[in-house]
Amino acid sequence: MKKTTKICCIGAGYVGGPTMSVIANQCPEIQVTVVDINQDRINQWNDEDLDKLPVYEPGLKEIIASNRNKNLFFSTEVDKAIEEADIIFISVNTPTKTYGKGKGQAADLKFIELCARNIAKVAKTDKIVVEKSTLPVRTAGAIKSILENTGNGVNFEILSNPEFLAEGTAVDDLLNADRVLIGGDDTPTGQKAKDTLSAIYEHWLPKDRILQTNVWSSELSKLVANAFLAQRVSSINSISALCERTDANVAEVARAIGYDSRIGSKFLNSSVGFGGSCFQKDILNLVYIASSFGLQEVADYWEQVIIMNDYQKRRFAENIISTLYNTVSGKKIVFYGWAFKKDTNDTRESAAIYVADALLEERAEIIVYDPKVSEKTIYADMDYLNTRTPEENRRLLKVVKDPIKATEEAHAIAILTEWDEFKTYDWDKIYNNMLKPAFVFDGRRLLDSETMTAKGFEFYKIGQS
Ligand code: NAD
Ligand code: UGA
Repeated sequence: MKKTTKICCIGAGYVGGPTMSVIANQCPEIQVTVVDINQDRINQWNDEDLDKLPVYEPGLKEIIASNRNKNLFFSTEVDKAIEEADIIFISVNTPTKTYGKGKGQAADLKFIELCARNIAKVAKTDKIVVEKSTLPVRTAGAIKSILENTGNGVNFEILSNPEFLAEGTAVDDLLNADRVLIGGDDTPTGQKAKDTLSAIYEHWLPKDRILQTNVWSSELSKLVANAFLAQRVSSINSISALCERTDANVAEVARAIGYDSRIGSKFLNSSVGFGGSCFQKDILNLVYIASSFGLQEVADYWEQVIIMNDYQKRRFAENIISTLYNTVSGKKIVFYGWAFKKDTNDTRESAAIYVADALLEERAEIIVYDPKVSEKTIYADMDYLNTRTPEENRRLLKVVKDPIKATEEAHAIAILTEWDEFKTYDWDKIYNNMLKPAFVFDGRRLLDSETMTAKGFEFYKIGQS
């Protein structure tokens, strides 16, 4: 087996950046180059100030500090990196289509196709091309067809190697992956390619955690894994609504069912609704694929996971409005958290965006504090919805850096992200700052009901009456 000396990754995002940093860190003999067409993003990856990296992940800046410009490079020289590499990972974004056939459901593969065409144009030696992005089942066929029909007579082996890291724990997930999945052809050259990629992961993972399958099983497994995870969150969230009406406590129910080893205890935390760039996108994609094969019952089954998630976000906002005497007009509501989960600066599809939108429709004044999300991102998220003008968004929603001062004269606080620091705040001081009754709506089940009630708050927690 030919030794891998150079790897290139196209796409320096939340997956490409951390994944390649860990590979570089664990494989000192391999030169890893991460390329992107976005010059700003590459500049941020190369910034001397490691607090300015475009992706915040615990443990990431330490790895970058030890490997950057040694065997880890970030660059916009896409063609050069492709030409030199033995293995090319494609890790570009695959958002939901916003136009044409499959609009609102299918994955938009235009960035993938551009990458394939670019590889075909530039490559002069044999390459292993790895799908790292999450793709609909059978996409490898399209990539293969582009590479074989416009290539320079070089041999391409296409592998599917979906990524299972979760944001906020990316480095740990990569270093201690439950499994790595590698899909490829069963031909002798396909097998060789799968083994070459396996050898990279074997630098730090036991061989029995590296699963090899055919390409289609690998592509589909990624969508199915996300669908199953999201389904657990929607399932427990559906029960949270019932708990609020019945004096049952959703945490107690989750614990009781989670003790059954067939169910398991993970991913049963009820919340204001799942966010993130992938759960919704990947389930919609699964729904689209199922319905395009005429499997309508299958499509409807999975679509319900999204419907329940939308309901949960809406329910949280509606509860705030009805509890605040059916009007939030002109009322100051402080949002603790904007990121879709703790320990990340990513806000894509964050529940906070939709809750804010619903409250702004009722003319609330929103003050947002998040320890890692910038003001620019928060306004970009609101503007993207197109519900109101950018000027209105800036007038009605303010972003602050002092979470305690933000609560002065506030009618309510809504906890939208489970940042640990919120637990350490001086809640007595916050209580004194606020108008009375002082309402707290805990969308993350972060704070203790009895303690908060004893302090005087009107405290509402998802999944508890
Ligand atoms: P991202 O938007 O953070 O990064 C994608 C990057 O690709 C961007 O910086 C963009 O500029 C770049 N890009 C797009 N087209 C390009 C081109 N032709 N040439 C060079 N660069 C190009 O996206 P992400 O979150 O890293 O996700 C990437 C893929 O990984 C998606 O398919 C996603 O579903 C999947 N995934 C994401 C996660 C996650 O936690 N974010 C986890 C597992 C899988
Ligand atoms: C998820 C999967 O966990 C990863 O395995 C996958 O690689 C990734 O999607 C992807 O393909 O992008 P991520 O979205 O980064 O990772 O984060 P999760 O920890 O899965 O959380 C997703 C959302 O569900 C968050 O909003 C989180 O707060 C919410 N959640 C999660 C709950 O509300 N309750 C839970 O019990 C777990």
